[in-house]
Amino acid sequence: MAYLKTAFVLLLASSMLKLRVFSRAMASFNPAVFATHEVVPDVIAKAPEASVSVEYPSGAVVSHGNVLTPTQVKDVPTVAWDAAPDAFYTLAMTDPDAPSRKEPKFREWHHWLVGNIPGAAAAAGDTLSAYVGSGPPPGTGLHRYVFLVYKQPGKLSFDEPRLTNTSGDNRGGFSISKFAKKYNLGDPIAGNFYQAEYDDYVPILYKQLGA
Ligand SMILES: *[C@@H]1O[C@H](CO)[C@@H](O)[C@H](O)[C@H]1NC(C)=O
Repeated sequence: MAYLKTAFVLLLASSMLKLRVFSRAMASFNPAVFATHEVVPDVIAKAPEASVSVEYPSGAVVSHGNVLTPTQVKDVPTVAWDAAPDAFYTLAMTDPDAPSRKEPKFREWHHWLVGNIPGAAAAAGDTLSAYVGSGPPPGTGLHRYVFLVYKQPGKLSFDEPRLTNTSGDNRGGFSISKFAKKYNLGDPIAGNFYQAEYDDYVPILYKQLGA
């Protein structure tokens, strides 16, 4: 009998351990960092409750405002979030710190904008603004690069001009919150961000943008 009881207690302990490991994985995303780094309120009014996973071909992974280099983020990343397969999403990457966090007179400079993404298949969405990596000017310190995902009320028809990755025109003076309001997207359902400052990839990026 005592034997059985021990076995039961062990079983219970093991399932509680599993539960704890599972909740730690769920809790590994901490929305409070959006306020710590003032992404709330500089970009959005309310932190998203879930994470967007963003992984670069360089191996760099975006997490909670970690510091990456322009070299590490030069190519289009792979993004994923917890998506309903029959819903459409908008994905944005935006820099509120243009040209610097101290004097953000071009806030926001948007780096990526894709609408009508079916589920989490970002490549199958309508690219409104093609991906452009980080190009923080020399001496302007760390910029914040914020990824946000919005669930659309349905398939949308966007009237924004389509922007390529060979020009920096029409990227500045953007507001993802205004964009979300315009299309009734509500609050972002998922987000993440990194920070970066100047490195020697930036002049190469400027050349790509014809600057
Ligand atoms: C720029 O866009 C073109 C066309 O989509 C693509 O082939 C190229 O890889 C992009 N370059 C960068 C650096 O993202």
